[in-house]
Amino acid sequence: MTKKITLLPGDGIGPEVIESAVNVIKHVAEKFGIQFEFETRLIGGISYDTYGTPLTDETLQTCYDSDAVLLGAVGGYKWEELPHHLKPEAALLKLRKSLGLFANIRPAKIYSSLVDSSSLKKEVINGTDFVVFRELTGGIYFGEPRGYDNDKGWNTMIYTRPEIERIAKLAFETAQRRKGTLTSVDKANVLEVSQLWRKVVAETAKNYPDVELSNMYVDNAAMQIVKDPKQFDVILTSNLFGDILSDISGMITGSLGMLPSASLGTRYSLYEPVHGSAPDIAGKGIANPIAAIASAAMMFEHSFEMGKASELIIESIEKALKQGLRTSDIAQKGDKVVTTQDLTKAIIGNFDLIYNEQALGVFTL
Ligand code: IPM
Ligand code: MN
Repeated sequence: MTKKITLLPGDGIGPEVIESAVNVIKHVAEKFGIQFEFETRLIGGISYDTYGTPLTDETLQTCYDSDAVLLGAVGGYKWEELPHHLKPEAALLKLRKSLGLFANIRPAKIYSSLVDSSSLKKEVINGTDFVVFRELTGGIYFGEPRGYDNDKGWNTMIYTRPEIERIAKLAFETAQRRKGTLTSVDKANVLEVSQLWRKVVAETAKNYPDVELSNMYVDNAAMQIVKDPKQFDVILTSNLFGDILSDISGMITGSLGMLPSASLGTRYSLYEPVHGSAPDIAGKGIANPIAAIASAAMMFEHSFEMGKASELIIESIEKALKQGLRTSDIAQKGDKVVTTQDLTKAIIGNFDLIYNEQALGVFTL
């Protein structure tokens, strides 16, 4: 059966990295004998320039009609002065809310050949492998009332029991498949909303006796992530705290620009690199495609139940890094600096090598 993927390349380097990801997806599809149909739509600044809005109903409808959405990046200096609701970022928030993408998954894993690019000491960072589960459609990002006038500004941090339960379940299930520990991060010493969060997470934990639950205040969690990142396996947290903690987590791996993310809902899912639109290097063919390609790998795993394809893509990326191939953003002395396209080709080449080596073409999806 043909699966439909909506492509939302967006702004800046978005189109370039999405092109790379699509090349990889097409290649993998051919190898595994499956069919994908792609539909490309505008989002963000380019959509504003074309239609006067960063997200059209038509783009949204195309997402509703597809099995997965792959997004590049949105935003750029050009649109920074626009009113809040017309900014490229507004499109992202509306898309998350409209598609019900309540769980944002951001892995923080160190690529062994990039240990030296981390801002942390080798012995602290080596072996780091955890994943942040960030609640994405609730909390202070969406709570009402909100607004500002001349004298005051206000937002509301609100969570309901079902909102906490559904993301907690996903995080516990993931912890079961991983190392079996889950850290729930909140600010229950100050915020009532966090007290409910903590209570509901503790109740959910009763259904997962094989997972060890601990709670941490968000300020301490920020500190612990840079002090001893290896202690974490699954971090579960709310929208705003997750926004901040996932940036810290990404940064310490030394490869913020290389991290993928998945945003999952009950019916829809969206995959996007964690990095932004990098307008200063857009159009030059030098952007790092790894985050977009790794996001495609997450898509194979979560949307198409093709864990094997996903694993092979990640191995192909690791192999390219071991071969010393780097785009300029991650290059160090002695590395071979290559273009977006060349790195993509190398990753596809590695995919074939590994594929042929491993099973002579016989795989279970
Ligand atoms: C992210 C971004 C967004 C967020 C912005 C662009 C609205 O920082 O995806 O983490 O805050 O969620
Ligand atoms: Mn962010």
